[in-house]
Amino acid sequence: GLHIGILAIEFYTPRTYISQSALEEHTSQPKGRYTLGLGQDAMAVTGDAEDVNSMALTAVQSLIEKYGIDTKDVGRLEVGTETLIDKSKSTKTVLMDLFGDNTDVEGATVINACYGGTAALLNAFAWCESSAYDGRYAIVVAVDIAAYARGPARPTCGAGAVAVLVGRDAPLAFSDPRERATHACNVYDFFKPDHSVEYPVVDGGLSQVCYYRALEDCYSKFCDKVDRLEGRDKDGQSDKFFNAESADYFVFHAPYNKLVQKSFGRMHLVDARRKYERKMKQMELEEKKSDEDNGDALPTQVLQSVTNITLPEEYLTKPIEETYSDKALEATLKSVSKSSYNQRLTDSNAASKLVGNTYTASVFLGLASLIDGAGKRGDLTPGKTVVVFSYGSGALATMYRLHVRDPTADGGERKRVFTIQDMVKNLNLSERLASREEIHPSELDLALETRARMHRSGSPYSPVYPTVGRMFPGTYFLNGIDSKWVRTYSRL
Ligand code: ACO
Repeated sequence: GLHIGILAIEFYTPRTYISQSALEEHTSQPKGRYTLGLGQDAMAVTGDAEDVNSMALTAVQSLIEKYGIDTKDVGRLEVGTETLIDKSKSTKTVLMDLFGDNTDVEGATVINACYGGTAALLNAFAWCESSAYDGRYAIVVAVDIAAYARGPARPTCGAGAVAVLVGRDAPLAFSDPRERATHACNVYDFFKPDHSVEYPVVDGGLSQVCYYRALEDCYSKFCDKVDRLEGRDKDGQSDKFFNAESADYFVFHAPYNKLVQKSFGRMHLVDARRKYERKMKQMELEEKKSDEDNGDALPTQVLQSVTNITLPEEYLTKPIEETYSDKALEATLKSVSKSSYNQRLTDSNAASKLVGNTYTASVFLGLASLIDGAGKRGDLTPGKTVVVFSYGSGALATMYRLHVRDPTADGGERKRVFTIQDMVKNLNLSERLASREEIHPSELDLALETRARMHRSGSPYSPVYPTVGRMFPGTYFLNGIDSKWVRTYSRL
């Protein structure tokens, strides 16, 4: 195999944040509303001195510097975002300032709520696999500033950028590109129809249900594909069908942690329903084979043999749409999946609990967080698998599987070897998050107001949000927008 995948990864999030418990108090909400209710601890905040261009510049330049990448060795650069600052000029073109004389760089900006980064990653994989591939690296950068109007969605703001270096012989590889499944449909759950504001129009309740539908559809199709690829579809007796305990780690799109916990619970419901369906099918076949044989298995026996979970039969048979608002079922699924969640998802969610929603960057931040946690402990050893679920409203979602591997396993000469341990060292993720500055929750309103003013004002514009002392060294920031609408950036 070519083992195309992630060679290196770098993240960026603003240096300033507010704590969710302080926000609860500040907005006169009952204690626990955001911390326990949404499962979030903190939220990254930035004002009008940063935009997705500057954040992408910061992440990509840092990736290049930390890994000593010669920019001539990059043949593809693709950006995923949903924070539109220009309807035509793509953030990808702004990043070309970092590439010196190298103008031979394919790729553009892909825009879709929370999914543009995944689309860009799949494009980069496809390029590396194609007959057009020229041996150079691809860089994918996912970047967003999540900003919501005042109201229940406000605590789910956030900001971040993640840049990944993509190429062959990766330590975190898309070893079999067929191990993926997509759910695409037309829904209006979250969208940005009004160009005069940065905020989305969002139907919170619908967006949650759309997320579940996409997860369940992707997951069922993903299970079928992996079972077929690994030959399990022919063995009806097998208890080894792919299930929610089959992957070592999961990375989910994380708008807020509570949704991820509930979603992982729902994967166990899907497992139980799939197992039940298989048993029923098997019984039908057996009945057909020997009509005279009256040894009908009772449904209760069937239920007892369902993996990990004993549920009333109604949950295994009623339309899944009728299960979304069932609080009793939700509690059962939470308790059956809790220890598995702790083992398989705690690492990947550590960063998003402290940063908030980063939209297209969310699953990439999840991967970085997993590398920082499990990788640092030495647990991301060859053979381990990571299943990623990326959801974008509208809706587009994909589930895919990455394999941890020894990048030198195939032998042969290669210019350079990239390892998980290098990623751990260069990410320095928990340390960097711990070195941020907590600001007063009232600053969230101020920061978002400066962003809103920038969005409305047109040109010229000079940012007012503080930079010096408020940003990490090496951060790019917006100097201003001139009278011809040209944006210029400087680096701290
Ligand atoms: N202590 C503990 N828990 C509490 C408290 C409290 N004091 N107050 C409320 N809660 C719990 C509720 O019981 C509820 O728990 P449950 O989910 O287990 O039922 C939870 O907090 C959420 O409260 P709700 O009233 O259901 O919802 P809320 O009005 O807070 O809105 C929402 C949440 C819909 C997620 C909102 O923040 C939103 O619209 N966000 C943006 C959309 C979004 O992120 N969608 C996700 C997928 S799409 C995307 O990525 C953008």
